[in-house]
Amino acid sequence: MILLPGFAEIDLHSHLLPGMDHGCVDLKMAEQALQQAHAVGIRTICCTSHFYPDQHHVPDFLEARTQQLQLVEPIANKYGIHLIPGAEVQMQPDVSSCGDLSLLALNELEAILIELPFLREVSHKCLDNVFRLMTKNRLQVIIAHPDRYDLSVVEDCLSFGCVLQLNAEAVLSEKKQAVRWMKNAPVLGIGTDFHRDAELSYSSFAKASKLAKKYS
Ligand SMILES: [Fe+2]
Repeated sequence: MILLPGFAEIDLHSHLLPGMDHGCVDLKMAEQALQQAHAVGIRTICCTSHFYPDQHHVPDFLEARTQQLQLVEPIANKYGIHLIPGAEVQMQPDVSSCGDLSLLALNELEAILIELPFLREVSHKCLDNVFRLMTKNRLQVIIAHPDRYDLSVVEDCLSFGCVLQLNAEAVLSEKKQAVRWMKNAPVLGIGTDFHRDAELSYSSFAKASKLAKKYS
């Protein structure tokens, strides 16, 4: 079940902000992406640059993000697109030294987007941290692209109240598990997870959101 009203107008996951990660390289690329997004009816983009706890520090990340937002927001306004600052937070077993992860939340959604390690054993060691974000920080944890992880880890996350974010390509694949989640699991919405190829990503998003409407 798709939970977010107007999900077809909201890209929940993007690497739009230049210079933050291996997403857009400059403002020109970001503007082209905003153009593509506008063309397919997107009205809100969550800016979810990668945050790696073993490489980044929360205050520095926030400072860099603010600087980039100040540059990109006027362009987004031109295209009638609202930007929600956030991050794609990689969960790791030890996140104690990188700062307060809750500051990386998508505040307007009272939620935080996380990705899990690919190895099942390592992912299991992260579940305490995920649980803490839900309970201590009272944030809705969104699991990015759950189709990439071991199913048992995703099931554990769902069992304590996480919701899912599907990438457009997963929706379009119509693989059994993706369809099962859209029918039976709390899917907050869809993301492009675009890094650089905005044209392809947003045309996929448009097709995926059309397909997903029957599950909303
Ligand atoms: Fe991503």
